[in-house]
Amino acid sequence: MRFEMRKGDDLHLHLRTGEMLRTVLPHTTRQFKRAVIMPNVTVKGRKYTGVLDRYDMAVYRDEILASRDDIGFEPLMTIQIVEKTTPDMVRDAKAAGAIAGKVYPRGMTTNSENGVYDYEAIYPTLTAMQECGMLVLFHGESPDPDLFCLDREMKFLKILKDVAKTFPRLKIMMEHVTTAKAIECVAELGSNVAATITVHHLFLTLNDVIGDKLEPHHFCKPVAKRPDDRAMLITAAMGGNPKFFLGTDSAPHLKGAKECASGCAGVYTAPVATPLLLELFEQHNAMDKLEDFCSGFGADFYGLPRNKETISLVKETWKVPPICGGVVPFRAGKEISWQME
Ligand code: NCD
Ligand code: ZN
Repeated sequence: MRFEMRKGDDLHLHLRTGEMLRTVLPHTTRQFKRAVIMPNVTVKGRKYTGVLDRYDMAVYRDEILASRDDIGFEPLMTIQIVEKTTPDMVRDAKAAGAIAGKVYPRGMTTNSENGVYDYEAIYPTLTAMQECGMLVLFHGESPDPDLFCLDREMKFLKILKDVAKTFPRLKIMMEHVTTAKAIECVAELGSNVAATITVHHLFLTLNDVIGDKLEPHHFCKPVAKRPDDRAMLITAAMGGNPKFFLGTDSAPHLKGAKECASGCAGVYTAPVATPLLLELFEQHNAMDKLEDFCSGFGADFYGLPRNKETISLVKETWKVPPICGGVVPFRAGKEISWQME
C-alpha cells in the first residue's frame, strides 16, 4: 500500500545549531518543505541565548541554509519576543524576513530564562506585530513559577483571551496545546487564533512519562496530560477544523542531557513524525484528514501558498533506530507500520 500527499509544513521546530543542526535537519527536509524555526538557541558568535533581532536571525538563517541537504527546504525564521524587544526591532525583523515572533514564559522551558513574565509589557511590541503582519507564537503556559505544573497551560488561557481581545487583527498561535480546555478555548476564540498540535502529544499521557518507570525521552514542556486531554487532541487533529494543525515541536537533546539528573525537556520526533501520524490517522479511519493537518491548514493560517510537491509513504514495517546522531528519537527501537518512500 502506498499513500501520497502534498509535502507539508512543520509549524514548530527546534533545529539547534552546529553539529546537532546538521544531524537533525535531513530528517525534517525529507518530510517537510518548510518549517517554522524556534529561536531558543545561542547563535554563532553570541554570548547570550535567543534569536533576539534581525542580526541574530540572519546569522542563524545562514547557518541553516548552509546545513541544508535539500535546497528546496525553506526555513521560516522567527525572533524571540522578550520584554526588552522594541517595536522597531519587530519591524526590522519583519523587513528582514521574519515570519513570526515567539514568546516564552520566563524560565518555563529550555533556554527561556530571558522570557516574558509581564505580558502587558510586550503590548507595544504586539501592536507593532499586528501592524506589520507578523504572527505571534505563544508557548502557552503561565510564567508563574509557583503554579502546579499541570495547571500552567490552563492558567495561560486568560493571557491568551486578553491578547486576542486587545489585538483582533494579530494572528495568534497557541503552540503545542495539551489540554481539552485549551482546545475548547482556541476553538471559541476568533479566526485570528489557532493552535499547533505535536506528534508526541497525540500519543502520550502523563502515564507514559511517570506512570511506571521514569521515561525521560517522553518528558517535554508542556508535559503530557490526562487520557481525556489526549483524546481531545486526537479529535481536534482529525476533526477538520482549520484552527488545528501540525507543529512537531521536535526538540533534540543529546542522550546524556536527557538521561541524567535535571534532564532537559523535549521529545525528538523529526525522524518518525509523518509515518507515526499516518499510522494513527489510519487507526482512526481518518487518513483523508492527514493532508490538511500536515500540509494545508497551517500554510493557510500563515498566509503561505500550499506546497506543490508531494511525498509518499509505503506500508512496510520498520524499526526506529535506538539513536540518531547522539539523540534518542521518539519510539526508539519500536516498530512503525508506515515509512517514507
Ligand atoms: C523545547 C526545547 O527543548 O527547545 N522543549 C520542549 O520540551 N518542548 C522548548 C519548548 O518548546 O518548550
Ligand atoms: Zn518548542
